Amino acid sequence: MTIAYLNGEFLPLEEARISPMDRGFLFGDGIYEVIPSYDGKLVGFGPHIDRMHQGMGFIDIKHELTHEKWREICEGLMAKNGSGNLGIYLHVSRGADVKRFHAYPEDVEPTVFGFAFEIAPPPVADRNKATGYKVATTEDLRWQRCHIKSTALLGNVMHFQHGFSSGQNETLLYNARGELTEASACNAYVVKDGVIATPPLDNQILPGITRLMLLDILRKHSDIKVEERVVTMDEVANADEVWISSSSKEVAAVVEVDDRAVGDGKVGPVWEAAQALYSAHKFDY
Ligand SMILES: Cc1ncc(COP(=O)(O)O)c(C=O)c1O
Repeated sequence: MTIAYLNGEFLPLEEARISPMDRGFLFGDGIYEVIPSYDGKLVGFGPHIDRMHQGMGFIDIKHELTHEKWREICEGLMAKNGSGNLGIYLHVSRGADVKRFHAYPEDVEPTVFGFAFEIAPPPVADRNKATGYKVATTEDLRWQRCHIKSTALLGNVMHFQHGFSSGQNETLLYNARGELTEASACNAYVVKDGVIATPPLDNQILPGITRLMLLDILRKHSDIKVEERVVTMDEVANADEVWISSSSKEVAAVVEVDDRAVGDGKVGPVWEAAQALYSAHKFDY
């Protein structure tokens, strides 16, 4: 039985109830996070909560939640759901109003929700054993505020479905100029001649916490060169390696893009080095 957190209370997930007038339900008016944890140890707790508070600031949700309060919620969810490999989902919506009206209402209490779900064990940095991902590509047709981790995910859901319905694990997205943005639920990278490149942080992509930690770890603990710059889809097509990253996948090697092999079609050596460094240092954050 999954134990959830809702507005100050831990309770069985199937007993958790919110109003249909909740603006999260009516408008997707909310912010969320997913924090991975392994045997009760959270990865990137501080940066995840910073991003959540920043997102709530962007959409003007007023709250009194602190890092300490979130830690208590996360620890409660881990203790009550058997630790192991868990994704901790945290969600704040603007709250339940009495009418359906677009303007932000005054005096509504945010709805605070959390639950835990099982995630796969983290990848082992061994290119002979690693899962190679296959991805589709499509034009990024989401909104122009992709830096906000909004619960309004229909654009991402439709892009994910595009790849999923043809048997792919993810969908890489590109803008009208043919530049890589990210994937429907991951950040994206290319590797050429040993140099990693990933699109810069702007309104076109989510500032992924795995991306933040990976780039920091690579810069602090290796001499592998990393560039944050525009990456074209031609570069994706000619890359030696392509990766995607997210909290639950960590760094994942892509071996096929639109049914064409990436490089030699195998998981590559730069991925192996990067994932090894990530595995060694991820609990520092
Ligand atoms: C659109 C999008 N980009 C990137 C990511 C990766 O972010 P993180 O590393 O914080 O999980 C996610 C994760 O959900 C996402 O939804």
